[in-house]
Amino acid sequence: MPGPGSDYFMIARVVQPANRGLQVSGKIQAVRGMNDILPEHSHLWQFLEDCTREALESAGYREIRLPLVERTALFSRAIGEVTDIVEKEMYTFEDRNGDSLTLRPEGTAGCVRAGIERGLFHNSQPRLWYSGPMFRHERPQKGRYRQFHQIGVEAYGMDGPDVDAEQILLLRRLWERLGIRAELRLNSLGTPEARRDYRAALVRYFEAHAGQLDEDSQRRLHTNPMRILDSKNPALFDLIDAAPRLPDYLDDESREHFSRLCRLLDDAGVEYVLDPRLVRGLDYYTRTVFEWVTDALGAQDAVCSGGRYDGLVTQLGGRPTPAVGFALGMERVIALIEQQAPERPPRMLPHVYVVHSGEQAERLAFEVSELLREQVEGLRLMLNCGGGSFKAQFRRADNSGAAVALVIGEEEAGTRTVQLKPLREHSEQQAVKLEALPAAVAALIN
Ligand code: HAM
Repeated sequence: MPGPGSDYFMIARVVQPANRGLQVSGKIQAVRGMNDILPEHSHLWQFLEDCTREALESAGYREIRLPLVERTALFSRAIGEVTDIVEKEMYTFEDRNGDSLTLRPEGTAGCVRAGIERGLFHNSQPRLWYSGPMFRHERPQKGRYRQFHQIGVEAYGMDGPDVDAEQILLLRRLWERLGIRAELRLNSLGTPEARRDYRAALVRYFEAHAGQLDEDSQRRLHTNPMRILDSKNPALFDLIDAAPRLPDYLDDESREHFSRLCRLLDDAGVEYVLDPRLVRGLDYYTRTVFEWVTDALGAQDAVCSGGRYDGLVTQLGGRPTPAVGFALGMERVIALIEQQAPERPPRMLPHVYVVHSGEQAERLAFEVSELLREQVEGLRLMLNCGGGSFKAQFRRADNSGAAVALVIGEEEAGTRTVQLKPLREHSEQQAVKLEALPAAVAALIN
């Protein structure tokens, strides 16, 4: 590696003013919209991950790990050329071979690519899940980031509404487990043919009222008119309210599919709102679409969204394979947990902090720590490293949140005993022989 005084760095320093990305001196900050998840928050992430993994694996969903980078063409073909994501939000770059690659803005396209390429869909009905960062160059605000995290779930090879219902029930159970509330919005987009007819009707309608459209909607009129229904511009609300409605254009089979789904949800007592304006921002959806929304997070209201995409596998070169899935936005779900969950999961604090001073004491401290780690199941033990006076070490023990300090000085080292000192309650410190220590510590943590 070249050092700071090397030619490489001198050249970098001279060249960099023209190139914002290559700053060498000064403080380097994180990229806007890309967050650090700090230790004080990570236990909430782990709680969400653990609960979701448990819920999914117990329903037969298995984890798939996918690359963060895919060929750009995968996303433009799957998500759609004229969607916001593909038009203006992708992190796309040329690699050293001149290939156009993109940081994944979502997981469904990569999952389908992997399924086709690895033959996962042959004679089987895989139920898969994945999690990790996604990248979209959106305008950052609370709940909307440029690097955000999803847990995504996809089921292949089943075309009935039973699996749609299964996923929705799975989510209801998950929200309950996490202690959060969200409202389910539901719609059916029908087959691509039904959507084509509906699209044509929408274009006719909005063309007749073109004067009232804002610039964004004018642009969408002939590229993606259904997205006009999603407009956040209050001036358009009346016009949108009076627009043709998708349910009136549904084909009979999709209508039947949708009413069977609603019946299954009714049977299970799931509450939902039928939302004929719910169209979704990705082009691959057919039939069922849904979103779980909340008004607790300001403008960013969808915590989880998904639906059926029966045509995508063929569109990407595979054999016809119906599919349905969803992704939840982890940042948004965690914000809800922080706001709503009555009993937020506690941070895992150490049970024991080992304080020691002197060379013999240090050796005994290592011996004691290894002994306890081996013999006391579930023990969380921190060993003081980096020296320091007893006073400094006790301050660290206190800051660590440990319930008990194990104290070893030269005297204890000589007699192979350890002082067990409660840190959070007023009770006497006691001297414990090494042989009796595992049992004494085990009694403390239970
Ligand atoms: P999506 O609606 O684009 O769908 O994203 C899913 C969820 O990711 C959203 O409901 C939201 O919670 C979260 N999300 C999206 N963008 C951001 C952002 N910039 N910052 C923070 N959170 C965000 C999909 O991605 C589909 N692949 C879902 C799917 C899977 N459909 C079928 N299978």
